[in-house]
Amino acid sequence: MNAALKTERRPFGFAKVLSWSSLVIIVAMTLIVSIAIANFARRTLLTKQQDFALLLAENVNHQVYRRFTLPTLLQFGRIALRQEVQYERLDQVVQSTIHGLHVKDLRIYDHERRVSYSLDRSQLGLTELAGGAVDKALEDGRHSFEILSEISPFWAMFSLDMEPDSVVLRTTYPLKVERRLGSSLDEDSEDRRPIMGALEFTQDITTDYENVISFQWLLIGVSCASSLIMFCLLAFIIRRADRMNADRLAEKEAFEAELHQSEKLASMGRTVAGIAHEIRNPLGIIRSSAELLLKRAEKANDPSTRIIAAIHDEAKRLSQTVGDFLDYARPRKPERAEVDLAVVLDQVAGFLESELARRGVRLERRYAPGLMVRGDRDLLYRAFYNVVGNALQAMDGGGEISVRGDAEDGHVRLVFEDTGPGFSPEALQRASDPFFTTKDSGTGLGLPIVANIVKSHDGEISLGNGEAGARVTLRFPGA
Ligand SMILES: Nc1ncnc2c1ncn2[C@@H]1O[C@H](COP(=O)(O)OP(=O)(O)O)[C@@H](O)[C@H]1O
Ligand SMILES: [Mg+2]
Repeated sequence: MNAALKTERRPFGFAKVLSWSSLVIIVAMTLIVSIAIANFARRTLLTKQQDFALLLAENVNHQVYRRFTLPTLLQFGRIALRQEVQYERLDQVVQSTIHGLHVKDLRIYDHERRVSYSLDRSQLGLTELAGGAVDKALEDGRHSFEILSEISPFWAMFSLDMEPDSVVLRTTYPLKVERRLGSSLDEDSEDRRPIMGALEFTQDITTDYENVISFQWLLIGVSCASSLIMFCLLAFIIRRADRMNADRLAEKEAFEAELHQSEKLASMGRTVAGIAHEIRNPLGIIRSSAELLLKRAEKANDPSTRIIAAIHDEAKRLSQTVGDFLDYARPRKPERAEVDLAVVLDQVAGFLESELARRGVRLERRYAPGLMVRGDRDLLYRAFYNVVGNALQAMDGGGEISVRGDAEDGHVRLVFEDTGPGFSPEALQRASDPFFTTKDSGTGLGLPIVANIVKSHDGEISLGNGEAGARVTLRFPGA
């Protein structure tokens, strides 16, 4: 239960928080940037429109002065727009100047702020139309601009199709007397030219405004799309990192569980080894007592000889198993004395001599003395004994065991070969696993003990099959 809880506590939450907060930041940044750019675009448009309006106003001023004021003064001596002839002449000049330039209203005020000319004749003579901008033009001689719009810039963004005249630019400009050609008036005095009246006109800039709004939407669209892509990329990277993290965590947990398991096994092994150790001595007494009883019973031709023999055999087998188990579970630390492996092998051969003869197995010794290593004579003896014993057990009805030994490039190598059936594929794979055996009375601890001993001598063991049967190769660092 604990483990299940642990595996569910994966850091996906962190990734979620990170990706959502990054989305919020990206969207906010996008909005701020696009609003700023849109405002900039609107201002640029307005400046352009104002420049254009100013140019137009100057041109109207110029045309009116050249084509109306001067000729009229020459012809009539004074300006009087109430006279139809003069008015018509001015109208003609104005109309031809603004033709095709989207000018909506155009009025000229005199010094009494009265409309003295207008495209809309019904406004003639009115004074209430003049605002502060007209005063500024008449009194200070300064032009000004004003945006007249029914829609706020914010709502303008959402009105898809704006009515014409929704956004209008009004320009108020002082009409001045132009300096005569060839006169030497400088810039400064030009400002003090007499003011003839105030010109006021409006232009429809709705279409340009709409263009700006489309541009604004395009900008928002593009930045939204790019931030979405960025977000997806970020989310992908975070997810991936997170998954890697989770994998690593799972791996670690699995490793910990394995460690826990092997610790448990190790402590179990220690307990069992403790029990086995306690069993060994009484078992030895049982075994030797049974042996003694067996001898007496055989001598006396006792009918219970067979039962005693069975007790003796089983006690022997059990003590072998317990001994093997203890050798495996409680390996001794090897001594580090100079040992000639040839001598140890000779000892093994000597001990097994009668057994070999009984089974009709020949032992071929192909080594010379001087296979020097640093190690523990007893442990090495036990290892070789196990290997040769296995070969002996594998061969039914005679055969040959050869032991080759040679020392080369600082190593001593021993090769044990027999003429038995060899390792089965399964045995080859599992022979070093403790308790793997194919024999009825085997413990499956022989080769694991050999492997332990060889490893404790910094050596290597390899199992295989030779031409005839099994081949066990041991390699030790030379002394
Ligand atoms: N010389 C050999 N020839 C064929 N098989 C072998 C040989 N030596 C070992 N084996 C196989 O390896 C297994 C494990 O051997 P071992 O660890 O010594 O345990 P045990 O001898 O108690 O079975 C044996 O049961 C046998 O199947
Ligand atoms: Mg064995």
